[in-house]
Amino acid sequence: MKRIFSILFVLLLALTVAAQGLVVSDETRRIREDFQDRKFGIFIHWGIYSMLASGEWVMHNRHIDRDEYAKLAGGFCPSWFSAREWVQLFKEAGAQYVTFTSRHHDGFSMWGTKASSYNIVETTPYGRDVLKSLAEACSEHGLKLHLYYSHMDWQRTDYPMGACRNCPHDEATTNWDSYYAFMNMQLTELLTNYGPIGAIWFDGMWDHKEKEFDWRLGEQYALIKKLQPKCLIGNNHHGSPIGAEDFQLFEQDLPGQNSAGFSGEQKVSQLPLETCMTMNNTWGYNITDKNYKSGDELIRRLVTAAGMNANFLLNIGPRPDGQLPDEAVDRLKHIGAFMDSNSSTIYGTRGGCVPPQEWGVTTQKGKTLYIHVLNKEKDGKIVNEGLKRINGGPLSLFLPLSGQSISKVTLRSDGSSLDFQREGDGYRIFLPKRPNTVDCILTATLNP
Ligand code: GLC
Repeated sequence: MKRIFSILFVLLLALTVAAQGLVVSDETRRIREDFQDRKFGIFIHWGIYSMLASGEWVMHNRHIDRDEYAKLAGGFCPSWFSAREWVQLFKEAGAQYVTFTSRHHDGFSMWGTKASSYNIVETTPYGRDVLKSLAEACSEHGLKLHLYYSHMDWQRTDYPMGACRNCPHDEATTNWDSYYAFMNMQLTELLTNYGPIGAIWFDGMWDHKEKEFDWRLGEQYALIKKLQPKCLIGNNHHGSPIGAEDFQLFEQDLPGQNSAGFSGEQKVSQLPLETCMTMNNTWGYNITDKNYKSGDELIRRLVTAAGMNANFLLNIGPRPDGQLPDEAVDRLKHIGAFMDSNSSTIYGTRGGCVPPQEWGVTTQKGKTLYIHVLNKEKDGKIVNEGLKRINGGPLSLFLPLSGQSISKVTLRSDGSSLDFQREGDGYRIFLPKRPNTVDCILTATLNP
């Protein structure tokens, strides 16, 4: 009897663990690793909100009546849109995947969905399925396609009661079962008609007033895995990952940081990590937001994310005519020039065994440690923080490396060997001159 109870107990435990998505198959592990290897993605926020050129929250921020807002669709005609040109540019920038807003909080679907007529094919003069073109271009260029999908909806009357901070419609008309069925029908289309989808990227759950609201994620995630077992799931719910989620998201912050105030409730997990960030201040196209980070600053963020073991998902808000803002194109080219010669110190790496330092970060592939000495700009001047000149000698950095040793350090740009010596729990490495590139990369070989 005791034995039967023990067997039952073990079985129950196994079932619970499996239901929570804690059992990870080798295949899933491999796909998650491939995602981590890709390191750099482009986030696209594009929809009918782009026409109002004030970001993707414009409907909410300007209290636009939902019927009035819907009329925007009648004028959406992105005559310059070319998925091929976009993807070519992303590829040249070194991006390895694209995350596209299939349907944002405004509820407008950017593909020919059969679940509602409120979509780009049926209600715009453009009448074409941009998602189809994007999926084809991504597959041609070898970039993975990820899809952003909003749990929140400002347009539909069946969206769950009390869910939005500023619902633009009468809450009494809500019908959760109907809305849930609608979402699952859309997800089924997205995962059936557009080839392999690398990930579904959920957003908007955090807006619900009832913290404990049951979104029935378990069933929804199971549907995704049933339709495309290789599709990863991420959810920007601003909390630690739950259930079958495959990666953890950080909005506008690196893992463990909370400068934007969205990550206060999450702990950095063992899952693959992804930081998403805007180039300026807004996700969707904003005609007056010229507060762009410099190309060098974006390289620093990308490299720092890699050093913190996270992917970097960099956002662009295309214009309503389908073109990318000039500032975004400039920055992509700038990043591309850097990636051209240095991507092998980023792709396929993990955060190095040396945690982030004042002078920069490390990435690692096997026994090769890439030491990224990052320049920072302060008051228009380049400064290398954390570097020291001892007794008038050359500039040097301290590499904490307890319990490990290195046999060789070279300067990546010209392959020259650098001097180094043991110092306390690590090494002092001497640099030939003051680094003046955004990321001066050294390669160190760790002894077995
Ligand atoms: C926030 C915003 C949303 C944006 C997302 C990207 O959740 O509400 O507009 O798409 O961040 O991370």
